[in-house]
Amino acid sequence: ADYGGGPASSGHEHHGGRMSVADLTGPATGTPDVAVTLVARKGKYQLASGETVDGFTLNGTSPGPMIRAKVGDLVQVTLVNESVPDGATLHWHGIDVPNAEDGVAGVTQDAVRPGGKHVYRFKAEQAGTYWYHSHQVSSSEVKGGLFGPIVIGREQPGEVVAAIHTYDGKRTINGRTGTQRVELAAGTTARVRVINTDNAILRVGLVGTPYKVVAVDGRDLHGPTPVTAAFPLAAGARVDLEAVVPAGGMRLVAGSAAVSLGIGPVDPPRAELPSETVDLLSYGTPAALGFDPSKADRRFEYRIGRRPGFLDGVPGLWWTINGHKFPDVPMYMVAEGDIVRMTISNTSGQAHPMHLHGHHAVVLSRNGVASTGSPWWIDTLEVGNDETYEIAFAADNPGLWMDHCHNLPHASEGLMTHLMYE
Ligand code: C2O
Ligand code: CU
Repeated sequence: ADYGGGPASSGHEHHGGRMSVADLTGPATGTPDVAVTLVARKGKYQLASGETVDGFTLNGTSPGPMIRAKVGDLVQVTLVNESVPDGATLHWHGIDVPNAEDGVAGVTQDAVRPGGKHVYRFKAEQAGTYWYHSHQVSSSEVKGGLFGPIVIGREQPGEVVAAIHTYDGKRTINGRTGTQRVELAAGTTARVRVINTDNAILRVGLVGTPYKVVAVDGRDLHGPTPVTAAFPLAAGARVDLEAVVPAGGMRLVAGSAAVSLGIGPVDPPRAELPSETVDLLSYGTPAALGFDPSKADRRFEYRIGRRPGFLDGVPGLWWTINGHKFPDVPMYMVAEGDIVRMTISNTSGQAHPMHLHGHHAVVLSRNGVASTGSPWWIDTLEVGNDETYEIAFAADNPGLWMDHCHNLPHASEGLMTHLMYE
């Protein structure tokens, strides 16, 4: 397989005849509404809570600066690599940008070498909570700090953004270990945007008052109802939690109350998450999907397994897709306009947060049980061991897209493939 060339130079014929270079790139002209320069550096730095980390920063901090755009804005981000030795890129995790803006080193661009820069331009089209991160040697660069939050939508008074990340074994919220607080008046409707930038699933939630799960992976849920439960947030995934701030405050808990963020007029009491878990398969109420998954043009199997020894000629302990490891996994081929169904099964012995670039898919069923709740749109889906999910999506964003495990060391151990437009 050839991963060097970009899709625009792949020379593939496509059946629809509609794909052009303009479909694959962001707007080349026009004054940006949001213009940001991010300077990537390697070295020692201090977390917001004071601990020293040896890793990577963007504009001197990790997480990098929060980027905020309104729907319709033209966003321009210039990545300058000052001193990241292996090079860096920026991938807009969960934002379905044109392919050439996707920031995948070796697929949509070359990594930006030290001394170099790269300009990303895309239109902010879908309100929601997202994040950006390097997609070059991702497992060490993201872990070391090359990431930040990006939110699309007009800022509301009660907004709180909480990026959860573990640096050198220290779990943080927005770069702070321990507990912290955000002042919000009682009675304010708070929207807490939680981003899991780590490699493992994390139980998160608000304690001190019931809350609604209003969005997942940048897509609103339909008919959310109040819960007193924890939300299992997959690696790479995001969840927006909404609640009216009580007089005694409430607390966002990241796994345990030892890492939490008090929200309110006073510091709320410390409390752990309840043992109940929100299950999106039956949460909220159904609504139109915008396409009919029963009329699928393509059906794919994505079987995740594990195999030790020589695989595709290389020794190791490999994660596999349909029996092969990256880059020997056949690509999934689609044509623009297709409705695609994919059955993802996992018998590998471990859970995998599967991330599809450039698209949002809807969960149709888990282990043969159909979704009865809100449309559950995902860009990152936790697939537990011995679980099978059926998902569907519209192939509406031409190009060459990654589909990989967001437990990033797993991706480098073979759990990675591409979705390719004909
Ligand atoms: Cu958030 Cu391919 O990654
Ligand atoms: Cu994995």
